[in-house]
Amino acid sequence: MPPKIALVQPSTKSIAADLLIVPVQPKGKGGPLAFPQALAELDDTFGGELLKYLEKQRFTGERNNTLLIPSLGRSVYSSVLVTGLGGEAELTGAQIAESIAIAVRQALSVRPQHVLVDARALADLDAQSGVYGSGALGAVALGARLGSYQFTKYYGEKQKKNVTLERVSVLGPKSASADFERGLSIAEGVCLARDLVNEPPNELYPETFAERARQIAKSKGLKATILDEKAMKAAGMNLHLAVGRGSRKSPRFVHLTFTPKNPKGSVAFVGKGITFDSGGLCIKPMQGMADMKSDMAGGAAVLGMMSVIADLAPSLTVHGIIGLAENMPDGDAYRPADVIFSLSGKGVEIINTDAEGRLVLADALTYAARLNPDFMVDAATLTGATLISLGPPYSAFFTGNEALAQAMTESAKRAGESFWRMPLIEELAAELKSDITDLQHTGQRYGGAISAALFLREFTEGRPWIHADVPGPTFRDRASGLHPKGGTGHAVLTFLELIHKHASEPIVAPSTASSEPHKSAPKKRGAPAAKSGKAGQRRPRA
Ligand code: BES
Ligand code: MN
Ligand code: ZN
Repeated sequence: MPPKIALVQPSTKSIAADLLIVPVQPKGKGGPLAFPQALAELDDTFGGELLKYLEKQRFTGERNNTLLIPSLGRSVYSSVLVTGLGGEAELTGAQIAESIAIAVRQALSVRPQHVLVDARALADLDAQSGVYGSGALGAVALGARLGSYQFTKYYGEKQKKNVTLERVSVLGPKSASADFERGLSIAEGVCLARDLVNEPPNELYPETFAERARQIAKSKGLKATILDEKAMKAAGMNLHLAVGRGSRKSPRFVHLTFTPKNPKGSVAFVGKGITFDSGGLCIKPMQGMADMKSDMAGGAAVLGMMSVIADLAPSLTVHGIIGLAENMPDGDAYRPADVIFSLSGKGVEIINTDAEGRLVLADALTYAARLNPDFMVDAATLTGATLISLGPPYSAFFTGNEALAQAMTESAKRAGESFWRMPLIEELAAELKSDITDLQHTGQRYGGAISAALFLREFTEGRPWIHADVPGPTFRDRASGLHPKGGTGHAVLTFLELIHKHASEPIVAPSTASSEPHKSAPKKRGAPAAKSGKAGQRRPRA
């Protein structure tokens, strides 16, 4: 069970916690925490030794520096942990959340049952600074929840004994409780995405992922449309079906919708949900294959975001679409040289079965575009090339729309997540020409993240669109900032900020076309999928 996280008001002295966290800013930088009252109070109980000790240890309150101090009986708290917020006069919610998360994560090392965070000095900061306008105390709640995250579902008895944290209390004013609750709710969306990524692939496969989505939709009042293999065949999602064909676990297509009373517009988020990517017939080497349980991280971010959208209730219709499949080798698996007709009708020549993500996304983007959203965003652990370009800490994003590019950069900054814009280099589009049909599905190795984005663009039907390639930050081999080792929930916060932004002031002009799912959709260029035989193998054009 995750710890209970609550906002509390009584004086620190009356709260029996094992460990006290005090956020601190450097002295003399003019920030509100230069001399937090909490530290002065504590210094008294330490007989004036605490501040001297901080100075001696050269703890200055620089960003994300922490110092854990055992109190050896001098305080009601067994330990005190000071965490640096950095010297900026105007702290952002992302900085606050990160500093708290780092502190709480470090606190876990002394196995406390109850942690107290003294956030009194933060309460006066800019109310809009937290994610989705959740203020400074929303940021503290977010940091506390994300920092205390542990994936313990499969722990054995011995491991469970080390999971001690039951409660995190945050000292702050009652007036901040709406912000605090909002921050906690947002954090649950991120933690859901982490859990999904951390699940082993024998437990989380397309059917069970879709079932989770259905449960979440039900409990949050979202509309859920879930297509099984048969329904996907009828719809003509042949690229997606091809990817799933090598697995005993059949693919699923998930479409959740949040609809407010008077929507001012609509947006669609599309996630890659490959629950395990072995590479298929073009099988991956053993090294790193296990990490491919995280190949559904884009889909997990979309579901994490959708799981909290009803609580945040933007004045927008929000679609969450996830293409789920497992990519496996098999006697019936799709192969290099196959030609498959997409939902859009375009023919695609398969080159490498390990480039499966763009195939699933192609059909999902066509589906999303037909909902006529104002804009759409996809998230996918799409290419190793992005990892090579930016390293593990950053995701790439691509868009041809300048307003969306700017909004994405700002949203990522507010969220404290790392996204770097990469160019859609038109010259590389030539690599996607096929001798035998409309398109081939991969280009050369060099510029591989870009040619993947250019392939996806073929399926966006001209709608404003952002492609986010998130192979690094969604699954980390060590803890960093807000995030633990393993699944991180990266992209959930940025997506929420994008929605918040578009709801407060349209980023792109609202789409005037109807968003009735597929009723107003342009006639498919290809004929419907073959009624019998293997989907997508019959040439659909006369
Ligand atoms: N899921 C992988 C991309 C990936 C690699 C994600 C490493 C996270 C970490 C994707 O399906 C893939 O295999 N891409 C290939 C594409 C290539 C065959 C054109 C790649 O990047 O090597
Ligand atoms: Mn692959
Ligand atoms: Zn993949």
